[in-house]
Amino acid sequence: MKRTGRSYCQPLFAGDEKFQTKMPRTQKQNGAYYTPESVVQALLNWVIRRKEDRLLDPSCGDGRFIASHPNSVGIEWDSASVEAARLRAPCALIHDGDFFTWAAQTSERFDCAAGNPPFIRYQMFKGKTRTRALHLCRELGADFTGLTSSWAPFLVAAASLVARGGRMAFVVPAEIGHAPYGAPVIKYLVERFSVVHIVAVRSKLFPTLSEDCWLLYAGGCGGQSAEIRFTALDHFRPMRTPPREYEAVSVKDWRTSWGCRLRPFVMSHPARDLYREVAADRDSTRLGDLGRIGIGYVTGANDFFHLRPSEAERSGIPDALLRPTVRNGRALRSRRVDAAMVEQWRRADAPMWLLRLSRDMTLPDTIRRYLDSSAGKAARQSYKCRIRDPWYVVPGVRIPDFFLSYMSGVQPSLVRNDARCTCSNSVHGIQLKSVVAGHQIETRWNSSFVQLSCELEGHPLGGGMLKLEPGEAARVVLPVPSRLARLDEQIVNDALATMRSWRHYSRGR
Ligand SMILES: C[S@@+](CC[C@H](N)C(=O)[O-])C[C@H]1O[C@@H](n2cnc3c(N)ncnc32)[C@H](O)[C@@H]1O
Repeated sequence: MKRTGRSYCQPLFAGDEKFQTKMPRTQKQNGAYYTPESVVQALLNWVIRRKEDRLLDPSCGDGRFIASHPNSVGIEWDSASVEAARLRAPCALIHDGDFFTWAAQTSERFDCAAGNPPFIRYQMFKGKTRTRALHLCRELGADFTGLTSSWAPFLVAAASLVARGGRMAFVVPAEIGHAPYGAPVIKYLVERFSVVHIVAVRSKLFPTLSEDCWLLYAGGCGGQSAEIRFTALDHFRPMRTPPREYEAVSVKDWRTSWGCRLRPFVMSHPARDLYREVAADRDSTRLGDLGRIGIGYVTGANDFFHLRPSEAERSGIPDALLRPTVRNGRALRSRRVDAAMVEQWRRADAPMWLLRLSRDMTLPDTIRRYLDSSAGKAARQSYKCRIRDPWYVVPGVRIPDFFLSYMSGVQPSLVRNDARCTCSNSVHGIQLKSVVAGHQIETRWNSSFVQLSCELEGHPLGGGMLKLEPGEAARVVLPVPSRLARLDEQIVNDALATMRSWRHYSRGR
């Protein structure tokens, strides 16, 4: 076969964003972070059996995977990287263009595939490329929503090109252990390969990235697997084969008991058994059973809608149109937001008032002047203000019973709202479903078990932070106090320390 750099993907069709814009993409837009050599060699060892094996790298970057194996094919859409790859891997066949376009057309199949797919979040993974990627995956039987990051469809499409009996090994973001779009990837792989192995690595494979990376191996293409092999390593070390020690996680268990998450498997067996047992306890409730959890309002122009007491007075804004508000998690450091705290904000002249106008009200002259001020004219140009009518009515302003931090350091804060404040979308609000629910939540929240539940139902954000989306917060398990008192504290505390160490949280940073 002729191994030139002939481009099978060109010309791209008109309307394609690469065709339209020849502007250089940034490293972030391309998800271009190249793999350390020791990891490249390990993954190649895992998949290449014979020198005739045909190897695919679906996003070959500068060619570091394909350079080590003479019978290789690489795809890459960044011209500078294509050039680098051609120099580095002169024997390889390199296609210059979008992988999904090529994957949808090719009839080639490969003995093995290896690489490091681009990690491009949904905000940047968009346009025709995403449409093509999701369409191809849907045809292959893997459904992703528009919120998927690029790596997930990349892995599915690459797996579809592996020949019967073939293997694949990739660097994957650690979010494969918790992100909703990790589940269709794993589901696709267990239905297509007889071995699926996830190797979690706690220390960073890419020291400069906030994203943690794990490794994925799948072998025996054409088979099926009822289990997922899972190995948790503190550090990556070069290995000629995927680790021989692993836990066999039943696919059924992964789906039904763990909500399609693999992160809980970094904990010890006794900790998982205990968590599962307590969560299934008849008397345990979930936070979402006791309250409705939602994000706060979005103003679209915070500086305009949030006023300091001195500004409100200067502009003559009537008190009745101002509502004290929790603007961010920093206000959630004590157990209550009460009148004394609001008074402190007022004395500090903090931007503590939300301008709260309603659609049907007659606007007083002072408000009209404020809306027509230069700040008001600038505010109404913001995207959120432009798409609502009238622009000055901030929707979703609620007075929750509790606030819950959205992004947290050591643990999420739950704070009772005794001052009838509202909150912005930097924190969550909880609206109780019954009169007794508040007491139930408060008596259960400050326990190690509930903190562990936040770790397991939430997810790491990078930089040591824990994030709890409303849906994740709703799943936090609240056991009854008598059950909490009987728990093996050692197991729970060890598990909590383990989960925090996997998100790189350390006190006193
Ligand atoms: C994480 S880098 C990996 C490069 C190389 N395989 C490695 O591991 O060092 C991902 C590469 O995918 C390329 N890429 C991103 N989207 C692509 C697409 N739709 N088609 C082809 N290449 C793409 C980027 O330009 C980048 O070079």
